[in-house]
Amino acid sequence: MFDFRPAADTPKPEAYRQLVDAAEALTAGEPDGVANMANMAALLWDFLPDLNWAGFYRVVEDELVLGPFMGRPACIRIPMGQGVCGTAAKDAATQLVEDVHAFPGHIACDAVTSSELVVPVVRDGTVIAVIDLDSPAKARFDAEDAAGIESLAAAIAKRI
Ligand code: SME
Repeated sequence: MFDFRPAADTPKPEAYRQLVDAAEALTAGEPDGVANMANMAALLWDFLPDLNWAGFYRVVEDELVLGPFMGRPACIRIPMGQGVCGTAAKDAATQLVEDVHAFPGHIACDAVTSSELVVPVVRDGTVIAVIDLDSPAKARFDAEDAAGIESLAAAIAKRI
């Protein structure tokens, strides 16, 4: 229905600018947060190569609860402070993990995952969700990916 994929040789910062533009276009004027998260998960999946999971966990009564995603069925509830997602949510800080097996307390939802990027979504000073990207490739994500997903999180914080 929509094809937002950037050309293969697009530099990462430019590709993420296109991703944020696409996210803003897809969510503009739509107040339903679940619909917007669902489209964001699909957009991330389409946009970024070498992923095995892309989606959201929402903060619900002081724990993380699975939200819209693409990929295999995943852990439903994650306590704050546990695993990569729980750490990102508790500390309100991006987690860029080159090798998940070296991350203390990593929650292995899928044994195929090797690296992970988790970015908190902050609205009015409070973490309301995290964006979680998993890859079967070691060190799949770098600082440019982290900056790009942080700009996406800022752009959609009021739309989910
Ligand atoms: N590995 C994550 C759990 C979520 S799944 O990978 C989808 C973590 O340690 O928080």
